[in-house]
Amino acid sequence: MPSTSVAHRPKVSSAERQQLGEAARQMLTRSYAPYSKFHVGCAVLTEAGNTYVGCNVENASYGITICAERSAICAAVAAEGPTMKLRAVMVLNSQAVACSPCGACRQVIYEFGPKALVIYQAHGGLAEATAEQLLPAGFRF
Ligand code: THU
Repeated sequence: MPSTSVAHRPKVSSAERQQLGEAARQMLTRSYAPYSKFHVGCAVLTEAGNTYVGCNVENASYGITICAERSAICAAVAAEGPTMKLRAVMVLNSQAVACSPCGACRQVIYEFGPKALVIYQAHGGLAEATAEQLLPAGFRF
C-alpha cells in the first residue's frame, strides 16, 4: 500500500465514503465483463459535491475495454463539463481481490484531481492514496 501522510489527504467523511461505496457496489451488477468475468464498479465524488458512477465495459477486441474508473469520470465530465474536478474515487470489484486503478486510469484520475483521494480494494480491506501518490510525476501539459 502506498504510504500516505494523513495530513496531505483530502477530507472525505465517513458518510461520503459509505455513499460512494454503495454507489460503486451497485455498479457491479451493470458491469459488462463477459470475457474476464471481473466486474468492477466505480463512484466518483466531484468538487461540486455530485456523485457519478461507472463500470467496466469489455469488448471482443479486448484492448478497447473501458475500465470502471474512466467510465465514471467520463460520466462526470459529461454531466458537469470541462471544469469538473475530482475529490474522491471509490473502486470496488466483485471478487474481493486487491485491485488498484491501472496505469491508464491513474493518468485520467490525475488529470481531473491530482489531490483526489482514491479508495480501492487491497489485501484485507480498503486502501487509500491520493492520485499523485498513485502516479508520481504524472503527465500534464
Ligand atoms: N478493470 C477496471 O475496470 N478497473 C481497474 O482498476 C482494473 C481492471 C477491468 C478491466 C477489465 O474489464 C477487467 O477489469 C479485467 O482486467
